[in-house]
Amino acid sequence: MTDGEPPAARVVAVTEWTMEMADAADLRPAPPPGGEMAFTRARVPSADVSRALYAAVGAPVCWTDRFPWTHADWRAWVERPELSTWIAMAEGTVAGFFEIEAQAAGDTEIHLVGLTPAFVGRGYGGHLVEQCVRRAWQRGRLWAAHSGPAARVWLRTSSLDHPNALANYRRRGFKVAAESTAPKTVPDPRTAPWPLPRDPRTAPRPAVAEELIT
Ligand SMILES: CC(C)(COP(=O)(O)OP(=O)(O)OC[C@H]1O[C@@H](n2cnc3c(N)ncnc32)[C@H](O)[C@@H]1OP(=O)(O)O)[C@@H](O)C(=O)NCCC(=O)NCCS
Repeated sequence: MTDGEPPAARVVAVTEWTMEMADAADLRPAPPPGGEMAFTRARVPSADVSRALYAAVGAPVCWTDRFPWTHADWRAWVERPELSTWIAMAEGTVAGFFEIEAQAAGDTEIHLVGLTPAFVGRGYGGHLVEQCVRRAWQRGRLWAAHSGPAARVWLRTSSLDHPNALANYRRRGFKVAAESTAPKTVPDPRTAPWPLPRDPRTAPRPAVAEELIT
């Protein structure tokens, strides 16, 4: 580490699994969660909201790959029509989210899925993944119109993710399609950069406040 760079840690061996489901009938429902969980597709894609969810869900499990993304990078990612972001609410609180993308040849990729920390380990995770996979199979009807029917749902998970993640995917019916292990350098999640799109100290002040006073 040099001055000005966030602290980083070298993880000696990170195993990554590619998991897939080739038939919607393979999806195995999870036991119902203790409380009601509601799912809404974000019809106004927001770089700010997605970045906040990414940090809230991912910081404890080392989601760091998107830390270098600028505001423009996030906008370019979330505003694509083939990507949909879903927000899960439980107990009046944002409890989790997922990102799914309609890809060529009927593939649907689950890029991210997870619970906010207060909801982990309380029986919501199986239901979250089940509902995520249902929506991934329903592309074309629900959110990616004209993209054709889904033929495969797939995702990547790693040994840095929550220890329940792999078991959860298997229990929902996913199979491991590929596995690889390599070292990885990860920044400290607490140091996530989130540069403001403009500097509020130097940006021109709107005249509205002065107009209101006079
Ligand atoms: C992965 C995640 C969604 C799982 O949710 P959870 O609240 O930890 O787990 P749940 O209690 O809902 O259990 C879901 C499944 O996990 C597995 N699981 C739960 N507790 C387990 C344990 N002690 N040992 C082994 N497996 C366990 C089971 O397969 C269970 O399936 P079942 O409901 O059919 O029995 C959640 O931990 C999370 O969002 N973590 C942070 C983000 C993350 O890691 N996302 C995955 C990225 S790929």
